[in-house]
Amino acid sequence: MGKDVIVALDFDSKEKTLSFLDKFSGEERKPFVKIGMELYYAEGPAIVREIKARGHKIFLDLKLHDIPNTVKKAMAVLSNLDVDLCNLHAAGTVAMMKAAVEGLTRPDGTRPLLIAVTQLTSTDQQSMEEDLLIHEPIDKVVMHYARRAKEAGLDGVVCSPLESGKVHEACGKEFLTVTPGVRFADGDAGDQKRVMTPAQAKEIGSDYIVVGRPITQAPDPVAAYRRCVTEFVD
Ligand code: C5P
Repeated sequence: MGKDVIVALDFDSKEKTLSFLDKFSGEERKPFVKIGMELYYAEGPAIVREIKARGHKIFLDLKLHDIPNTVKKAMAVLSNLDVDLCNLHAAGTVAMMKAAVEGLTRPDGTRPLLIAVTQLTSTDQQSMEEDLLIHEPIDKVVMHYARRAKEAGLDGVVCSPLESGKVHEACGKEFLTVTPGVRFADGDAGDQKRVMTPAQAKEIGSDYIVVGRPITQAPDPVAAYRRCVTEFVD
């Protein structure tokens, strides 16, 4: 898979999600979409099958984190759902990440892409030290988790677009960086603190950008999606 824009379907029901996707029915390019916890827990695996049947690639963003055996079995279920990309927390350890890769791998050797969350962007230095008792600088921790994810056989990490360059330096150009926190130059940042435009994310080397509200809340979502593709992919 090459560079792409992933649209975050942050909706709480099938009705809202499908009526949003209907706007794209006349489009030649079917958006790659992200299904997160809210929609998945509201609608279950049926929503994944339905969106897949409409021809979209799917990033299932469930951020698994449990003992290796449980994650392995859960990943086997997600693999059968035929998602294209899924994720877990690198904090679950290399053993858990390796078990996840095993669980995802189908009998024919194929599997969905698997990426790791390093430290959530909502975690700052202070909360990492106070709550997790990790006293290293946060960027060092992020790079360490990225390297461990690579060692475990994962395909990449979720990170801020500002970290894409460093992750590629540490783990190689082939190691995917999937980056949220994207806003148009003339748009509203909302609650995202450190943002980049799609063009800047392309410049810095992000492989995929995850874009929610700048597309889902736009007066013309299709036009906003096309603008993202033009800036990031074309
Ligand atoms: O609406 P917005 O473009 O901010 O949506 C970004 C999407 O990426 C949301 O689904 C959000 O949960 C997700 N995300 C994020 N920051 C992270 C990890 C995921 O914004 N560090």
